[in-house]
Amino acid sequence: MQMFDAEKIREDFPVLEREVNGKDLVYLDNTATSQKPRQVMDAISEFYEKHNANIHRGVHALSQEASEMFDKGRENVADFIWCLPEELIFTRGTTESINLVAYSWALHNLKEGDEIIISKMEHHSNIIPWHLISKLTGANVKAVEMGNDFSMSMESLESLISSRTKIVAVTHFSNVLGTVTPAKDICKLARDYDAVSVIDGAQSAPHLPINVKGMGCDFFAFSAHKMLGPTGIGGLYGKVELLEEMPPFNGGGGMIADVSFDHSTYAKPPEKFEAGTPNIAGVAGFSAAVDYLKKVGMENVHEHEKVLNRIVIKRLNGMEKVKLYGPENVDKRGAVYSFNAEGMNPHDVAVLLDQEGIAVRSGHHCAQPLMKELGIEGTARASPYLYNTEEEVKTFLDILEEIVSKL
Ligand SMILES: Cc1ncc(COP(=O)(O)O)c(C=O)c1O
Repeated sequence: MQMFDAEKIREDFPVLEREVNGKDLVYLDNTATSQKPRQVMDAISEFYEKHNANIHRGVHALSQEASEMFDKGRENVADFIWCLPEELIFTRGTTESINLVAYSWALHNLKEGDEIIISKMEHHSNIIPWHLISKLTGANVKAVEMGNDFSMSMESLESLISSRTKIVAVTHFSNVLGTVTPAKDICKLARDYDAVSVIDGAQSAPHLPINVKGMGCDFFAFSAHKMLGPTGIGGLYGKVELLEEMPPFNGGGGMIADVSFDHSTYAKPPEKFEAGTPNIAGVAGFSAAVDYLKKVGMENVHEHEKVLNRIVIKRLNGMEKVKLYGPENVDKRGAVYSFNAEGMNPHDVAVLLDQEGIAVRSGHHCAQPLMKELGIEGTARASPYLYNTEEEVKTFLDILEEIVSKL
């Protein structure tokens, strides 16, 4: 295992040198989006400065270079999640990836009375596509309960799943609670019932080592911008046999085998699902982000976050007027801390922290059903990443303590 050094890592992230409100920036809003290292920005600039051309269409040198960079980028990102390049579709991100599964697989395979299982801790991106499909097909959406420890209840999933279940679509890592779900067991249960498993990996791909083959999922959705890459690009892993039988999501250039006026046939996956000019510079940045994370080592990222978990959870639990929403067991959670301070609106907590240079998120975090389940309007949420130091999280905790002491 390589040595992990958050201080050294920080040197690659120019924005972390900033001051905010006269204080050193402590960026703890990584669940919303991560910061970008120089290597990612350089890869994007280099593409535009030296190789910019459309891909797979030109015989000239720049087009060949751009095509090669794009294809290598796919190989690199696929390798990061342990799949084959032909199993990885580039999308705009997790939201589009889940919608692709909904409109290309679910719309054509579901009928009235079928069931789609989600969970009570899903992000809207893994709820609304299924509501839309349920309206179009007559299928019903059911939600798995949480356990008392904010886990995903396997008992609840077992009681909901049946021969009517066609899809089990759940998060791998809650963006609110930090809960890491037993994705492998969930996928196995789905398989036992011939249901298709869709794993929302928006928060797990940035923080945990991912092996989609080991997990046994049918689909896995993730976003580059949450894992050091640019916005507007992400991925969808799909099992080849499913991708082959699915119709295209969009039609246009780049996804065809042959076109006549009245008929068209399509390219093989993944091109079948990538109509139009793709986000080529985005792939350059995504691949550079993956290079960066591979070099640091995802096990190291995870271990670093466990160290931060131990510090933060102990301190937050010790603050009388603060309630933390999420598992206490550091081995069953990631570094996302949603909390409320007694009698304070979460937005006010976020504003007071911002005045001290500390960036946290506040609100419903695109998880309104979960907020309703918890009986709250929203939370404040601090979420560190590989470049956040122990000192930074201690600064956040000290200032929060000061804020709540004045209540
Ligand atoms: C768990 C989860 N799922 C899905 C999404 C949507 O990701 P994106 O907006 O990149 O499509 C997010 C974003 O916060 C998320 O946290």
